[in-house]
Amino acid sequence: DWKMQDVLDEEIRTIQSMVGPDEHVICALSGGVDSTVAATLVHKAIGDRLHCVFVDNGLLRYNERERVMSTFESDLHLPVTCIDASEQFLSKLKGIKDPEMKRKIIGREFIAVFDDFGHNLEQKIGKRPGYLVQGTLYPDVIESCPPPGSGRTHSHTIKSHHNVGGLPKDMKLKLIEPLKLLFKDEVRKLGSILNVPESFLKRHPFPGPGLAVRVLGDVTAGNALEVLRQVDEIFVQAIKDAGLYDKIWQAFAVFLPVQTVGVQGDQRTHSNAVALRAITSEDGMTADWYYFEREFLVDVVNKICNNVRGVNRVVQDITQKPPATVEWE
Ligand code: XMP
Repeated sequence: DWKMQDVLDEEIRTIQSMVGPDEHVICALSGGVDSTVAATLVHKAIGDRLHCVFVDNGLLRYNERERVMSTFESDLHLPVTCIDASEQFLSKLKGIKDPEMKRKIIGREFIAVFDDFGHNLEQKIGKRPGYLVQGTLYPDVIESCPPPGSGRTHSHTIKSHHNVGGLPKDMKLKLIEPLKLLFKDEVRKLGSILNVPESFLKRHPFPGPGLAVRVLGDVTAGNALEVLRQVDEIFVQAIKDAGLYDKIWQAFAVFLPVQTVGVQGDQRTHSNAVALRAITSEDGMTADWYYFEREFLVDVVNKICNNVRGVNRVVQDITQKPPATVEWE
C-alpha cells in the first residue's frame, strides 16, 4: 500500500526531527492495535530511546495482564515494563459515579504513573524522558474536540477520551501522536507494513479507561469488576468459538448496578442484570448492533447465568450509534 508507506516514512521523519538525538520517550502499551502500532512506529524512528510501559490499572479484562505481557514478549520483541497500579487507580475511583469524573481521574492517574516511570528511568539512564507516545486516532480527536475546518458542527465534547481531552493541562510530557490523522482501518494497514502480528491487528478496540466505563456508577462497588470480567470472558470466548470475532467490530459486557428478581433452581433470587453489546462499524463513529442467531444467544445466556454467581438476567443492547455511543459511559 503505497499511500500508507508514504504516511509511515513521513511520520518517521517527523518524529526524528521532533525528538532530539539524546532525548528519551515513554510509550504506554495497552495491548491494543493503536498503541502497539504507535510504539512499533516510534521504535523504528528512535530505537531504544523508546521505553514502553504496560499499566495494570485494575480495570483490565479477565487475565488480560498475563495474556498481553506474554504476547508482547513472544510476538512484539519490544522491551516492556509492567507496572501494577491497580490499588492506586481503584482507591481514587472509590465512590465516584459520574462518567466524566471517572475518565478525568483515570487520565490523571495514568499521568502520575508515567511521571513515576520517567523518574525511575532518570535514575537508571541519567536522562528524564520528555515525550509520551499516544495511539490517538482521528475519530478520538474529532469526538473530543472537533478541529476547526473539519466540517463538524457540534462544538461540545461528546466524551473526553482519556488519551485526548482527559489529560491534565499541567502535564509536562510532550505528546507524540503519530496516528492522529488516521482511521482504524488505516492503522491496521500501517501495522501490517510494520510487521505487527495479526494477533494484535485483529483485536477489538478497548477503551483506555477500561472496565471503568463498563461498570456503570461506582466501579469499586461490591464485586462488580469481578462479575463483569467473568461475563465478558464468556461472551467474547463464545464469539471466538463461533468464528464471529472478525465479523464484529467490538463485543463486550456491561455491568448494570441494577438488581432484578429471578428464579434459579427453586430459589427466588434478587441479583444483578448485565448487558451484552456487539456492534459492527467502519470507524467507531457510527455503529450498528450485530444480529446473533437465537441459538448462539440462548447458549451464551445459559453459560452466564449458570457460571457467574450474582447474575440472573442478561439483556442485549440493540441501539445504534447514534443515538447511543459504543460504550455506556
Ligand atoms: P464511543 O463510546 O465514544 O466509542 O462511541 C467509540 C470507540 O472509542 C472507544 N473509546 C475509547 N478509547 N479512550 C480510548 O482509547 C477512551 O476514553 C474511549 N472511550 C471510548 C470505544 O471503545 C469505541 O471503540
